[in-house]
Amino acid sequence: MRAQQQNMKLLALLPVLLAILTFGQSNAAAGSSHLLCYYDGASFIREGLSKLTLNDLEPAMQFCTHLIYGYAGINPSSNKLVSTNEKLDLDLGSSLYRSVTGLKKKYPALKVLLSVGGDKDVADEESSKYLTLLESSNARIPFINSAHSLVKTYGFDGLDLAWQFPKNKPKKVHSGIGTFWKGFKKIFSGDHVVDEKAEEHKEEFTALVRELKNAFRPDGYLLGLSVLPNVNSSLFYDVPALINNLDYINLHAYDFQTPVRNPEVADFPAPIYELNERNPEHNINFQVQYWLNNHAPASKINVGIPTYGRVWKLTKDSGLTGLPPVSDADNVGPAGVQTQTPGFYSWPEVCAKLPNQANQHLKGADGPLRKVGDPTKRFGSYAYRSADDKDENGLWVGYEDPDTAAIKAAYVKSKGLGGVALVDLSFDDFRGGCTGNEKYPILRAIKYKL
Ligand SMILES: *[C@@H]1O[C@H](CO)[C@@H](O)[C@H](O)[C@H]1NC(C)=O
Repeated sequence: MRAQQQNMKLLALLPVLLAILTFGQSNAAAGSSHLLCYYDGASFIREGLSKLTLNDLEPAMQFCTHLIYGYAGINPSSNKLVSTNEKLDLDLGSSLYRSVTGLKKKYPALKVLLSVGGDKDVADEESSKYLTLLESSNARIPFINSAHSLVKTYGFDGLDLAWQFPKNKPKKVHSGIGTFWKGFKKIFSGDHVVDEKAEEHKEEFTALVRELKNAFRPDGYLLGLSVLPNVNSSLFYDVPALINNLDYINLHAYDFQTPVRNPEVADFPAPIYELNERNPEHNINFQVQYWLNNHAPASKINVGIPTYGRVWKLTKDSGLTGLPPVSDADNVGPAGVQTQTPGFYSWPEVCAKLPNQANQHLKGADGPLRKVGDPTKRFGSYAYRSADDKDENGLWVGYEDPDTAAIKAAYVKSKGLGGVALVDLSFDDFRGGCTGNEKYPILRAIKYKL
């Protein structure tokens, strides 16, 4: 009788015990959320307000668990890992490498990694050196040795492999796209074949990762993978074979729709969930689920969040509502004043175009855009202005802001993923000109949610 009562008591306590256990677990998960911050060293030499110096960088370090410094590249004749800013003598001569790793003195918990590739190593027109290097084990050796030596010499904590694999073809390729696509013609041989030797390259990449990890293990260096936008994971990554040799995977799940890839249709560049049945893979959730389904532990997966917007030009034929997908867009929109890149606005550049006191009475190209938020929390924000009577000044911007970034961070948390990879610090509002005086508002919004 007594024993039975005891048992009953224990049974009654069970839910409480379980609650304590799960609480402890979710607490631990929250405590270990990673926030990996990319910093493109080339932003150091931009002109004017978009130039990000080390002094500007420092306030971000209280929020980042990792700083990923980009970008190193491959020397195609030696197959060595080299600075892509060599001509400017920025990384080595001006010792930016040492300055960034020096941030660890003040922030001892910070890990600083060197990133290779990142779609920034484009001196070689077709990026085929990333494939030829894989193809021979003799070519992999100088790469691995030089990577180890750069990491060690400059005090990095490891290497981020933002390997430049061939990208998916956009769904529709129209005429008149220009030289950008012509450069990629050979990779897109055939209508649907992204890379005829994809299966080989997948195996060879697994070998490279294994060999790198072996070289890094004695020093405890980190090795991470960045899956770049529009690189098809199922073509190039053997997840079960790779996963144990990688410390993290950053899924750069954005730029699914850009004015360069899709000049005639403006649409959300980085939705969390599926927009329509035509592009079921073009969203964060698909990418995350793919890696989870292939047995990647959730704790190793980080979701990439951009800090910028993509800009299309609208015509009269694009209509008046701005509701995406907007067809009859007319290619890339104008460059932002600071970043000077056609079809691209950093967050402060987007912010300046949204309705505010300074632009409320302005007209034409300087007038405010109409802002449309996302109450569904699934797709992202956009802002637009329909073309005027002269068929001018039409603009459509799909962008990330502190609110949408926070929604993505909440998604990361609800899925129990490892954390967020912010791309890139230099396009966040690091001067704090937009929202009050707060520097790095997107970074902060993510940090508060994680
Ligand atoms: C990725 O590759 C798989 C085949 O391995 C294919 O079924 C899928 O459609 C591809 N995804 C994209 C977005 O092209």
